[in-house]
Amino acid sequence: MHGGSPPSPEADPSPAELIAARPHLSRHAFDGLVVEDVPLATIASALGTPTHVYSEAAIRRRYAALSAALQATRLDTQIRYAVKANDHLAILRLLGSLGAGADVVSEGELARALEAGIPAERIVFSGVGKSRHELVRALAYRIDQINVESAGELAELSRIASELGHTARVALRVNPDVDARTHAKITTGRGQDKFGIPASDIPGLYAHAATLPGIRPVGLALHIGSQVMTLAPFRESFAVLANLAEGIRAAGLPLDRLDCGGGLGVAYVNEPAPSPEGLAGALAASFRRLGLALLLEPGRWLVAHAGLLLTTVLRVKQGPERPFIVLDAGMNDLLRPALYDAWHGIVPVRPGLDEPLAPADVMGPICESADAFARRRPLPPLRSGDLVAILDTGAYGRVMASAYNARPLAAEVIVSGARWATIRSRQPLEALWADERLPGWEAASRPEAAHCRSPQIFPPGGAEAGLFSRGAGAELARPPGLAPGRGARK
Ligand SMILES: Cc1ncc(COP(=O)(O)O)c(C=O)c1O
Repeated sequence: MHGGSPPSPEADPSPAELIAARPHLSRHAFDGLVVEDVPLATIASALGTPTHVYSEAAIRRRYAALSAALQATRLDTQIRYAVKANDHLAILRLLGSLGAGADVVSEGELARALEAGIPAERIVFSGVGKSRHELVRALAYRIDQINVESAGELAELSRIASELGHTARVALRVNPDVDARTHAKITTGRGQDKFGIPASDIPGLYAHAATLPGIRPVGLALHIGSQVMTLAPFRESFAVLANLAEGIRAAGLPLDRLDCGGGLGVAYVNEPAPSPEGLAGALAASFRRLGLALLLEPGRWLVAHAGLLLTTVLRVKQGPERPFIVLDAGMNDLLRPALYDAWHGIVPVRPGLDEPLAPADVMGPICESADAFARRRPLPPLRSGDLVAILDTGAYGRVMASAYNARPLAAEVIVSGARWATIRSRQPLEALWADERLPGWEAASRPEAAHCRSPQIFPPGGAEAGLFSRGAGAELARPPGLAPGRGARK
C-alpha cells in the first residue's frame, strides 16, 4: 500500500505512539493536541474545519537533516524541491529561503516557484507532456534545466529555442527500467511506464542533442517513483545512470550533472523508512568517482510529516460491526486514501487518551464509498463535534484537493512556535461558481441569470443571509448556539 500499512489493524500504532514519533506534535493536559506551541482547538474555533495545518519547524528540521546528510558526502549536491508535493507560496518561500531550488512540472508550478522568489537559475522543468507554450515560458525565464523525456520533445525544444535565439540546458530523462517497489500508480521507472527514454536510446540521443541548434546537453536525469521505501531501487537506477554518464563522457561529449530525482519515502505508520543518510550513501557510492554535480528532487520527504488535516466528527453512526465515524473532511480534501489506499494516522484532538481503544471506520461525507480514511482503526470513543487530526498530509494533500460535491476548498494554516497564520482562507461558497457563465441564449432570455446568480437562493440580507454570510477567516457564519468551529461547514 502506498503510504504504508500495518499487517493488521491490531498492529496499528496507538494515537499516543503516533504523536511521540512526530516532534512537532504534543499532547497537553488542558489543550489537547498541539502543533509546535499552538493548540489545534484554537485554530478550529477561529477558522472552522476542515483546515490543513502545517508546522514550519517540521519543514525546517527535515530540510536541515537532508542538507546535512548530503553535505557530509562532500559531493556537489543541490536540492530542487518537487513543487507538486505542496505548492503553497508560504511553503515554497520557506524552502527557497533555506536554499532549495524547485522542480516544476507545469507553467503554473513554474509561476508559483518564481512568485515565491525561487530564482530561475535554481529551477528544473520535468514532465512527460510539456506544451509548446510551457517550453517557451521555460526558455523565456532562462531556467536552469529542462528535463527532456522523448526525441520528439528534444526536436520541438530545439526548434523553439532556435526561434527565440535561446539555448536550452537539457538533461535527458532516463527510464532505467527499475521497479521502485512502491504503489503501481506512482511507479515511474519501469520500462512500461510512460516516463523517460529507454537507457539503450540515451547515448545516441545525447550525441544527437549535442548537434542540435538551441540545445546544450548538460546531463542526465531520472525519477523512479514516489514513496520508495528501500534503498535498493535507488542503487539499481543510479548504477544505470552512472554507466550511461561514463559512456557519454568517454565519447567526448560534455556532461556535468546528474539529476537523481525524488522519491524518498516516509513512514506514515511506523514502518522502516530509508534515511537521508542512506540515500546520501547510495549517491556517494554510485557517483563519487564521476565528480559530477548531483541534483535531487525531493518532495514528500520534506513536507509530508509537517502537515495534518484538522477535521470535526459530524456523526457517529453504528454500522453492522463497528461504528462509522463520519468527518467533515472528505476525499475532496485528502485524496490519498481513496486514490492509493494510503494509511494516515488519525488522532483525537481533545486532552487525554486513556480511554480504551475500539475499532472504528473513519469516513468522509462524500457520496462515494471510496471516501474512507480508515477501516477498523483502533480509536478512543469519539462523539459528534469532536476534533480529530489526520496526520502526515503535508505532501500530496491540499494540492490534490477538489471541490467535488460542491464542497469549498479547505482553509490552510501555518504554525511557527506560538504563532499561527491563515495562509489560505476557506474558499467562499460563491467562489464555486464565480467563473461559471450561462450560455448566451439563456443569458439573453434571462439577463439577470448571466452570471449564475440567483437572488432567490441567496437574498441579500434575507432570512437565510445570516446562515451564509462570511465570518472572520471567510468561514460560514454559524447558526446561534453552535459551538465555534464545529459543524461550521456542512
Ligand atoms: C519528476 C519528479 N521529480 C520529483 C518528484 C517528487 O517525488 P517525491 O515527492 O516522492 O519526493 C516527482 C513525483 O513523483 C516527480 O515526478
